[in-house]
This record gives sequence, structure tokens and C-alpha cells, in this order.
Amino acid sequence: MNMRFLDACWGKPVDRTPVWLMRQAGRYLPEYRAIRSKCTFLELCKTPELAAEVSIQPVEILGVDAAIMFSDILTPVEPMGMKLDFVPGPVFENPIRSMKDVEKLRIPEMEQDVPYVLETIKILRRELAGKVPLIGFGGAPFTLACYMVEGKGSKDFAEIKRMMYGAPDVYAALMEKVTTMDMEYLNAQIKAGAQAIQIFDTWGGVLSPSDYASYVLPYTTRLINGLDRQNIPVIHFVKGSGSMLDTVKLAGGDVMGLDWHVNLGHARDIIGPQMAVQGNLDPTVLFAPKTFIESEVARVLAENAGRPGHIFNLGHGIMPSASPENAKFMVDCVHRLSQK
Ligand code: CP3
Repeated sequence: MNMRFLDACWGKPVDRTPVWLMRQAGRYLPEYRAIRSKCTFLELCKTPELAAEVSIQPVEILGVDAAIMFSDILTPVEPMGMKLDFVPGPVFENPIRSMKDVEKLRIPEMEQDVPYVLETIKILRRELAGKVPLIGFGGAPFTLACYMVEGKGSKDFAEIKRMMYGAPDVYAALMEKVTTMDMEYLNAQIKAGAQAIQIFDTWGGVLSPSDYASYVLPYTTRLINGLDRQNIPVIHFVKGSGSMLDTVKLAGGDVMGLDWHVNLGHARDIIGPQMAVQGNLDPTVLFAPKTFIESEVARVLAENAGRPGHIFNLGHGIMPSASPENAKFMVDCVHRLSQK
């Protein structure tokens, strides 16, 4: 078993810097599109054999040091009672706007309501045995609430902020419920065999540092504290966290995910040596010529300056138009340039 990824999560020394890519199972791979062309995205998420197959594709094609199970952050929100569609971005037919809407939300029974997620994990653990560790994941409560309140992706997040500032009791009731769901969902993934957990807070950075501290931090902290994680590292990725790393760190977790707007070395100086970091190549660098990709990989490795506890990754998900060849070249560069 390739232990580089888990060792680096715990800040242990490794022979080469481990690397995986956020959103590594997806549309940039022709092998993914071949499977996806025969069903909808939600059908793919709900068919464990197929979900497991697309999770393994990047491990074999790119040679990454970890697999991430194939699903979506919104998968467990649907059984809370919200009608979900992907077009391809997520859309909820009836967004949450009132206390009555929040009261109607139920906390799913994970074994009954999302059995396909747990089954995907079990299949993956069998198929990945002796290869690489398996990462489970969920959205952070705030990012899930953004989609539930906005009803879809947003540029200004006006509806969630309107609720946050204008109806703080509704916002708090929603966040409490989503946090409880998330905790049970991630604990069910751990029980099914996930070997690490990544929490995606894609939209945490749309708030000011003080709003983040008031309206997000208490919930993510409760979530991370509530995970059954004796031997399960937790990666906390807040996109846009560069100006509030000291605050985000307070949520806990073992690894801080970094986007590309921060210098990884400066970020480590602020975060301190107790926490590992993951990141942080600009995803658009994969569109550049190979010589440029290589020098950018070298730059990120140099910023880390040999400190233990670095997992190489992009600073956000790989783009659907990225080239698999360049992605593989990047992975090879990380391994070659970091070899001890
Ligand atoms: O490889 C992996 O990382 C595992 C699979 C995964 C998906 N979504 C599959 C997916 C993961 C970890 C996610 C997380 C996710 N989903 C996030 C957090 C990470 C991030 O990118 O910020 C968010 C915000 C979502 C919500 C979501 N799902 C959006 C905005 C979209 C559409 C646009 C897009 O980026 O693709 C989706 C759909 C989705 N989720 C697809 C995939 C492969 C594309 C669906 C398709 O095949 O048509």
C-alpha cells in the first residue's frame, strides 16, 4: 500500500511528495465521459459499481497517490427533502427561504437514504487494497447551505447573505441541521471504510474574515469535533481562505487545503508546523506548455522548502477542459522533483 498520502497528512516524512487532484474523477477524462454518456450524473452517483470505476480511473491513468470516492457534495442534501437536479451545475427546485422550509428538512438515515455512497466506499476499499488510500468527502455546512438557499450556483450570494444578516434565527436553524446531517454523513463514510475525509468549503471565502468567524467557524468546528477520527485525517479546504488562515485553522482538522492565491510557504508560516497543508497549483497552469508546468511545480515545492506535511494538489478542482496528458505530466513532475 502506498502510504505517502496518509503519512504526509500526519506530518510524517515521505520518500516523495504525495499528489492527487481535486475533482480528479471527471469530465476532463475521456474514460469518464464514456461511462457518463450512458447515464445521468445522479444515476452515476447512485450506481456503486460505476461510481467506483470512475473513482479508480485517475489512479490508473495519472498515477496519483490517493483516490477520492465519486459522488457530489449535494448527494446527502437530496434525502433531506430537496429535489436536486444537475444541468450540469446543481439546481434545487425549492430553495430554503423561511423557518418553515428549514423545519421541513429531515436528517437522513444514512444506511437507508444514501446506501449507494456507502456501497461505493466498500467496493473501492476492496478494489484499492494494496494500492492507494481512499478519501471520502462532504461539503462544509456553509457551502451546502449556499446551494440550498440560493437554489443554484451564485456570483453574489445575495440570498444566503440576506438570510444571514436579516433572519439570523433561520440561518442558525438551517446551519445546525446541515451540520448534524454532515456529521452523520461523514461518520457513515468513515464506518464504511473512508481512510481520510476532505471537507470542501468552496464558498467560505465569499465572506469577510469577521463574518467567517461568526457565521461559519462555529459550525465547521462542531462538525470536525464530531467526527469519529482516531486514525482518519481531516483535510479542510476553504477556497479563498488566504486572508484568514489564522481563523480557519481554529476549525481544527489535520490538513489545511490552500488555493493558489497564497504563497504556500507564507501560509505555512502562519498556520504553524502542527498542521499539514495541501495545494496549491493554479488549475489553469495545466493549460500551459510542459516546461512552464514543470517550473510551477518546482516553485510550489520550493515554497514548501522540504517541510514535512505537504500534499501536492491543485488550488481548486481540475477543469473539464484540462488535458489528461498535462495532468499526468504534473503528477510525474511532483514525484520526480521531490524524490529524496
Ligand atoms: O473526483 C472527485 O473529486 C470526486 C467527485 C466530485 C464531484 N463533485 C463530481 C462532479 C467532488 C469531490 C465534487 C465536489 C463538489 N461538487 C464541490 C466542491 C469542490 C469544488 O469544485 O469546489 C462543489 C461546489 C460541487 C457542486 C457541483 N457539482 C457543481 C458546481 C457542479 C457542476 C459544475 C462542475 O464543476 O462540474 C457539479 C457537478 C459534478 N460533480 C460533476 C462531477 C464530475 C459534473 C457532472 C457531469 O458529469 O455532468
